[in-house]
Amino acid sequence: MEDWKEKLAKASLCDIMRTAFAHRILVPAFNVAYLPMVPAIVEALRRTETFALLEVSRPDITRFGAQSFRAVKEAFDEFGDFSLSRLHQDHVPVIDEEGQFVDWSSLIDEALELGYHSVMIDGSRLPLEENIKVTKEVVSRAHARGVCVEAELGAVLGHESGPLPPYEEIFASGKGFTNPEDAGRFVRETGVDWLSVAIGNIHGAITGAAKDAKKVEARLNIEHLKKIVAQTGVPLVLHGGSGIKKEYVLEAIRHGITKINVGTEIRQVYEAALRKERDTSAAQRAVAEKVEELIVTYYEIQGSARRLAEYL
Ligand code: 13P
Repeated sequence: MEDWKEKLAKASLCDIMRTAFAHRILVPAFNVAYLPMVPAIVEALRRTETFALLEVSRPDITRFGAQSFRAVKEAFDEFGDFSLSRLHQDHVPVIDEEGQFVDWSSLIDEALELGYHSVMIDGSRLPLEENIKVTKEVVSRAHARGVCVEAELGAVLGHESGPLPPYEEIFASGKGFTNPEDAGRFVRETGVDWLSVAIGNIHGAITGAAKDAKKVEARLNIEHLKKIVAQTGVPLVLHGGSGIKKEYVLEAIRHGITKINVGTEIRQVYEAALRKERDTSAAQRAVAEKVEELIVTYYEIQGSARRLAEYL
């Protein structure tokens, strides 16, 4: 095995992400909405020698075709490549998009037992104190197994079933944006590894006709991001990665966004190809091409795995 591959394969994900943050190298995270997407994403990573996460959320399982956390782990075990990827459990909400309390504790334990490499607890719909309490608990369980934890502060809207306020209103008002001082306190008190922030990003819809529609082209408030990164000093995460204006994405990476979650764009490509060709391998090809295009021409991070290995 080549040196860089061996180095990355042996490194812990927490170390890889800290290195990525220190050198402003993006690690994109691709949502697995359907199991056959796993080999397709990995193929694109191999072709471009890029390090990324594969991730799966509750809606990927309950609303689309990811089936279960176990099924995705099994697919990752079969097709994943440790020198180019790891598996992340996305969004375990304490209160979900419908306002229902979720048994977050069992879902986190399930991922830890299955051997996921990182997990995300999302207490962002809770008051700050309670979000801190729950996140601290998850950090203590996960760190005991060497697993890193992502949490969220602020409101990344879009998964709720009701209509969203107009995007320009969200962006201009800064309503729901992560408060930089709260973020500093949150990171210090919880010991969380990565923090998902709200700076103008919104999730693509997961219900109704909107889930098939093109997402609004979001922008990011980079000045606000700078204030958050100054207070936190940990890798920051941008949810709702599909369809953000490229110039904002590149600037955000320069200012501490280390992980960007991409769901809608690659899911829609998979579904559209499947509808048209009625053939899973055509849908897989479409996903591999889309992931490659994002890596090469949108994030401009082709070859990131070698650079990461150099700095590790
Ligand atoms: P998009 O579906 O908008 O790309 O967001 C994905 C995401 O943030 C998953 O957590």
